Amino acid sequence: MISFRSQAKYDKDAVVVLLTAEQSHERFKKELEKGENFPVLDGQQISLFIGLGKADSLSLTDLRVQVRKAFLSGFLKKAKTVEIVPHTKEDAAICAIIEGVLIGSYVWDKYKSRDKDDKSVKNKQITIAVEAKKEFIQTETVCQGVNFCRDLVNDNADTTTSAYLENSIRSLIKGKKNIRLEILNQKELKAKGLFLHLAVNQGSNKEPKLIIVRYSGGSKKEGYTALIGKGLTFDTGGLNLKPSGSIETMKMDMAGASAVCGVLKNVLSLGIKKNLLFVLGVAENAIGPAAYKPGDVVKGYAGKSVEIGNTDAEGRLVLADAFSYVIRNYKPIKMIDLATLTGACVVALGFDYTGLFSNNDPLARQLIKSADQTDDRVWRLPVYKEVKDYIKSPIADLKNISSIKGGGAITAAEFLHQFTEDTPWAHLDIAGSAYAEGQGRMYYGYGATGAGVRLLTNYLLNN
Ligand code: BES
Ligand code: MN
Ligand code: ZN
Repeated sequence: MISFRSQAKYDKDAVVVLLTAEQSHERFKKELEKGENFPVLDGQQISLFIGLGKADSLSLTDLRVQVRKAFLSGFLKKAKTVEIVPHTKEDAAICAIIEGVLIGSYVWDKYKSRDKDDKSVKNKQITIAVEAKKEFIQTETVCQGVNFCRDLVNDNADTTTSAYLENSIRSLIKGKKNIRLEILNQKELKAKGLFLHLAVNQGSNKEPKLIIVRYSGGSKKEGYTALIGKGLTFDTGGLNLKPSGSIETMKMDMAGASAVCGVLKNVLSLGIKKNLLFVLGVAENAIGPAAYKPGDVVKGYAGKSVEIGNTDAEGRLVLADAFSYVIRNYKPIKMIDLATLTGACVVALGFDYTGLFSNNDPLARQLIKSADQTDDRVWRLPVYKEVKDYIKSPIADLKNISSIKGGGAITAAEFLHQFTEDTPWAHLDIAGSAYAEGQGRMYYGYGATGAGVRLLTNYLLNN
């Protein structure tokens, strides 16, 4: 928990002093460079001066990066209590500092036996020398939703199974009002005809699940907005097996469903008064004699048949059935899906932007605005009617891969579009943005980033 107080007191184990170039010049007659960490020891106490560079070239992203760097530096390792003295009182900057601390210092160390918790802020009491405000507490809450999502994504595929996700949802909603939970397991999926979803899970020894949380926090007159997440607990590619180099990170193929869990957590902790559907399409794309086959034709809940051109294009199949089931049984006024859907989206946009697709300009604009406000970035890619020609099949209503090379993120989005039944819809392809490899990037370390959680929480708070 972060606390706030209007005056800096310099009375903690460590004090982190953020200084723009101008401020450091005034104080020390020396300009700290951007990124410079200058420690001063005084007995047991450490003051850590952080150079932020010139005020006019300091972005909020830079600020989060610098705060993260300070908290991961060895200087704060031993400190149990830390005071942060910010360079400004401006709300947006204070929120960015909070995110720099809570998102920036997140480390996935569950399976580390050495150095555990050394860098994490879990064991630190943090005080920021600025008067408390509702926005700051809210930002802290949202960061907890982000990190909750990241824990789900980062754990082993055989830990965060469909049963585990169901339990996580049950714990989140326990004792909360205005909630109804519907879960379709294998048996119900079969009885109701969600055969696309079932096909994807055919090779797995785990239960497929369509999990739907209906949250009636808004007025009776208002319709429901559906948030739908791709939840592939592992994606081997199926019989079109992924090669080495592509398969290793595929425990993250449930990052969409995990983001939906993160947003649900935030909605409940913030008491957001909206009518919402939180939907997780959960399956495992495994291989084995029972796995679905390339060349199969499968008919889904909407009655459309799909030729399986490639078993690795499985996310769109699970989402198609989830869309159809939710539309026909819950009649949402709009739908937003999050999915680690295509490697092609990573080729197009890299890792720092989520791909946004929509059949509705106002909805797309609102999401872009939320992305700008949260730094949970999106970039819009096109939805247009000619793409439908590329996903035609000679033997079925649709094919799950494109007949042409290129634009794989766009053809995947068009496949989803075919199941929206004119519901206003936005699709967030988080294949690149949900996971950071190597040294991490911006203010994210190795592993899950929580992409989509801040974006959609902001969207729900403002629309
Ligand atoms: N889960 C993958 C997409 C993915 C790739 C996510 C890289 C994160 C990082 C998805 O199910 C997939 O395999 N897509 C295929 C589609 C293709 C067979 C048409 C792809 O992108 O290669
Ligand atoms: Mn796949
Ligand atoms: Zn996948």
